[in-house]
Amino acid sequence: MKVDGKHYRTIWPVDGGRIVRVIDQTKLPFRFELLDLTTVAQAASAIKTMVVRGAPLIGATAAHGMALAMRADPSDQHLNSAYDLLLATRPTAVNLAWSLNRARQVLQPLKPSARAEAAEALAVEICDSDALANETIGNHGEALIRSIAAKTTKKRINILTHCNAGWLATVDWGTALAPIFKAHDHGLAVHVWVDETRPRNQGASLTAWELAKHGVPHTLIVDNAGGHLMQHGEVDLCIVGTDRTTSTGDVCNKVGTYLKALAAHANQVPFYVAAPSSSIDWTLRDGVAEIPIEHRDPREVTQMFGEDENGTVGEFRIVGKETSALNIAFDVTPAMYVTGLITERGVCAATSSGLKSLFPESA
Ligand code: MRU
Repeated sequence: MKVDGKHYRTIWPVDGGRIVRVIDQTKLPFRFELLDLTTVAQAASAIKTMVVRGAPLIGATAAHGMALAMRADPSDQHLNSAYDLLLATRPTAVNLAWSLNRARQVLQPLKPSARAEAAEALAVEICDSDALANETIGNHGEALIRSIAAKTTKKRINILTHCNAGWLATVDWGTALAPIFKAHDHGLAVHVWVDETRPRNQGASLTAWELAKHGVPHTLIVDNAGGHLMQHGEVDLCIVGTDRTTSTGDVCNKVGTYLKALAAHANQVPFYVAAPSSSIDWTLRDGVAEIPIEHRDPREVTQMFGEDENGTVGEFRIVGKETSALNIAFDVTPAMYVTGLITERGVCAATSSGLKSLFPESA
């Protein structure tokens, strides 16, 4: 996608793969800065500290991290330690394990001398296929938005989204935002309600920034406003992303997604999840019981990050020092609240048979 007229992906190799360049998302929306990763430790740290984040981009960064590791030392021992280091960075998005398992499967049978090149080729392939899958999700999702627009006399379609499932969360295009970019580009009047998404405010700092850069009309709302807007007919559909989707259609996404799905269900608002196949965990059936939920530093709840009137960017406390906080980063929306899954192979019901109809080989 474009930033000030220039096309960017969120991650790309430089200097024949010696460097992996990423957009430092901890600096947005205040500064657009690039960061170079040259070691597997730096790649792991970028995932852990959320310089890069979003399920598909976490997977893509891990693949590039394996390539950096193999370039430094292609031994069996280093292959295993790089795999373990990267896998331990964040627990919820299944794209991480998906990408690392693919890398291990390709690299382990090879002679060490062949591993660096193969790891680099795989990382490039994972990135390219992510961008393509998301663009295809955009086409399927755009058709869906058009079908909803065809049933209303409203001048514009209001779409609510939570967190950031835009191009910054992927290699390119995004998942939940791809249909919105496509619909907007093709002349459909869309407007996006952007949940700010406390505590890290990925909606406010990333989704709103992306939409603004692309010229898509949008309005930032506090996380608790969605239910009210739905009650008053101001939301035509919700589209969110997913960090892990079970084989039965349960969806784990940024904390607060579940409450939006409940409000959508109560107000008969369609609730769609943009789910690339890389985020489906075919081994799980019960999302609430089985998906590991990341707990993060409570400081993300007690502190906020922003820019003051002098342009100084920094962190400030929003609660008294005697109060402690709990930082649950994800929640699970049971399949019964999901109207449909938008995948790269089309839209299906959030059920085992729906997923099986599109992905018979995996199910
Ligand atoms: O903690 P984050 O910012 O990595 O969480 C991101 C989300 O929850 C996204 O909605 C999800 O990864 C889907 S992204 C295409």
